[in-house]
Amino acid sequence: FDAVDVIRAKRDGGAVPDDALRWMVDAYTRGYVSDAQMASFAMAVLQRGMQRDEIRVLTDAMIASGERMSFANLGKKTVDKHSTGGVGDKITLPLAPLVASFGVAVPQLSGRGLGHTGGTLDKLESIPGWRAALSNDEMLAQMQSDVGAVICAAGSGLAPADKKLYALRDVTGTVEAIPLIASSIMSKKIAEGTDALVLDVKFGSGAFMQDIERARELARTMVELGTDSGVATTALLTDMNVPLGLAIGNANEVRESVEVLAGGGPADVRELTIALAREMLALSGLPEADVEAVLDGGRAMDVWNAMIRAQGGDPHAPLPTPRETHTVTADADGFVTRMDALPFGVAAWRLGAGRARAEDPVVHAAGIDLHAKPGDAVRAGLPLFTLSADDDARFARALEALEGAWAIGAERPASAPLVRERIT
Ligand code: URA
Repeated sequence: FDAVDVIRAKRDGGAVPDDALRWMVDAYTRGYVSDAQMASFAMAVLQRGMQRDEIRVLTDAMIASGERMSFANLGKKTVDKHSTGGVGDKITLPLAPLVASFGVAVPQLSGRGLGHTGGTLDKLESIPGWRAALSNDEMLAQMQSDVGAVICAAGSGLAPADKKLYALRDVTGTVEAIPLIASSIMSKKIAEGTDALVLDVKFGSGAFMQDIERARELARTMVELGTDSGVATTALLTDMNVPLGLAIGNANEVRESVEVLAGGGPADVRELTIALAREMLALSGLPEADVEAVLDGGRAMDVWNAMIRAQGGDPHAPLPTPRETHTVTADADGFVTRMDALPFGVAAWRLGAGRARAEDPVVHAAGIDLHAKPGDAVRAGLPLFTLSADDDARFARALEALEGAWAIGAERPASAPLVRERIT
């Protein structure tokens, strides 16, 4: 095969034959196809799209580039959740222990933040001593034990083709192609070997997919890929126009997650945690359970404490606190009518909560705490949100990102449901 022929075929809108597509992925992983050629191919896919069979073959080829894990000998069902990412999305933290408290194993391979979206591992690393890197054996042992849940970094052996391709897409404007996103996410989830998978596909300003139609298409594509590979897969389409919860950052998101595990926390974080838990338990074949009672009864908190300890963390240690804070107040009486997820995500990133390059560190105490959300009444002069950073020089750039990002009006805005659709 020849990379230029494969690129031309896609550039001109054709379907790439199975064997040529498999070769392209394998040759790229081994370094025979260059970054320039693969970037050109990715752009052709973004422009021209792919047929369902091509997406399936692309996904298979990425799985075949690395190891496949197996949880077959665990003696428990396994169920995972994947979110396409957003602002303030800390749901994995309360969700994994909640679902594991029902006796299902939760293998939650997670990532780090890049750009304005946060990463689960960055959040958990705010906890003193907590370790993200586990060997496959450690991961299996933790799932087999009473803990049952593990949140850790994906090992380097899992879908290496995707690691290379995703880093390339990130710097070539080719992230937002549905075939590429779907195959990237699903190759890792299928290679991981989970029995079941629930996808939280976000739409809105803080998501990859701005509009719900594209999010629906992404969700359908991923549900088909999972189902075709024997992974029981469903998806929820959820609103990411507004940040989730009141905390955007790392340590503050851990704090908020612990509130949810204690039966409190913001209503939207609690609602989405419960909706996804119900979906995961149903996919695992468990009889309808009272998820809310388990959350309120403290059983999920016990699993959380055990899960953090099992990975070297101290769940009761104080979390890092910021050196500098800056509070923005409401300029009028009324209701918050709008709080746009994307600029809040960008502002938290600029405060140090996120990273610009994969190897950069994050500032665990940096971020934003909201004191009101759309629909809440506010009074002029009272706090609307607080920015946190280690250096007050960061506030100006964060405030620049936030210009026009929220609004206060005389009328309480209509509220939109958080979970919009279920895709099976
Ligand atoms: N997350 C992934 O893992 N891959 C993508 O392409 C997008 C989001």
